[in-house]
Amino acid sequence: MKIAVLGTGAGARCHAAKLKELGHQVTVGTRDPEATLARTEPDMMGTPPFADFLAGHPDLALTTFADAAAAGELVINGIDGANAVRTLTAIPSGALAGKVLIDYAVPFIYNPDVPHPWPTPWGTMPRLSPVDTDSLGEQIQRALPDTKVVKAFVTQEQETVVNPAEFGGGDHTMFVAGDHEDAKTAVAELLRSYGWSDILDLGSLHAARGMEMHSHLHTAIGLALGGSHRFGIKIVRT
Ligand SMILES: NC(=O)c1ccc[n+]([C@@H]2O[C@H](COP(=O)([O-])OP(=O)(O)OC[C@H]3O[C@@H](n4cnc5c(N)ncnc54)[C@H](OP(=O)(O)O)[C@@H]3O)[C@@H](O)[C@H]2O)c1
Repeated sequence: MKIAVLGTGAGARCHAAKLKELGHQVTVGTRDPEATLARTEPDMMGTPPFADFLAGHPDLALTTFADAAAAGELVINGIDGANAVRTLTAIPSGALAGKVLIDYAVPFIYNPDVPHPWPTPWGTMPRLSPVDTDSLGEQIQRALPDTKVVKAFVTQEQETVVNPAEFGGGDHTMFVAGDHEDAKTAVAELLRSYGWSDILDLGSLHAARGMEMHSHLHTAIGLALGGSHRFGIKIVRT
């Protein structure tokens, strides 16, 4: 299948590499391919330059967000949450219309002057916006009414998303939410190819609010475990 991965960050790289390994035709999107390839320093999270990653994955195509979206039959959104709506709506509408878009971005706003700051080893924890009564997933769906948005991935570590079997016997729970049943079916199929067996459909895209807000709990769990453990979320039922 032709799949567009919009984003060059660590999460997007996990998906691009895994999808290629699974035999898909993958196009990665960025703002300016030349500028992205010219970077030589790690980003603020310590992620190495994209050119280093591409050297190890020469089969991946890198192009603009718009051209990548146009090339994909399915689109994965890994654009920085604060810029996702503006960037996705700048893509000519024909490139995304009628397609399934999996959104795993978190609407983090990095502002060192937030009230009630939460200091972490990597700086002040960003706040979420939108939050509580809206979500980035819903914003994207409203902005792209002809696209079928599914929120997924966001409650698990990115390495676990693409390889759940890496620890815990692969027995974690993956959540999906969206307003289009056929789109969620397509996403579940992709997830099964990643190795997921416990996929919980949370219903409409309203559930994206809780999925995005989970990022604070995810951070707290990571800090409690001292940053030295991988962990997953499992829903235990009767
Ligand atoms: N498990 C998960 O689902 C999971 C895990 C980690 C992170 N996340 C979330 O996924 C998203 C991507 O995270 P990440 O760490 O992979 O990458 P990131 O560093 O948060 O974002 C990188 C992407 O955002 C684009 N970007 C940054 N600033 C932009 C701007 N002003 N305008 C347009 N595009 C801009 C970059 O474009 P260029 O390519 O041009 O640089 C790049 O493609 C974030 O929202 C993050 O919180 C989810």
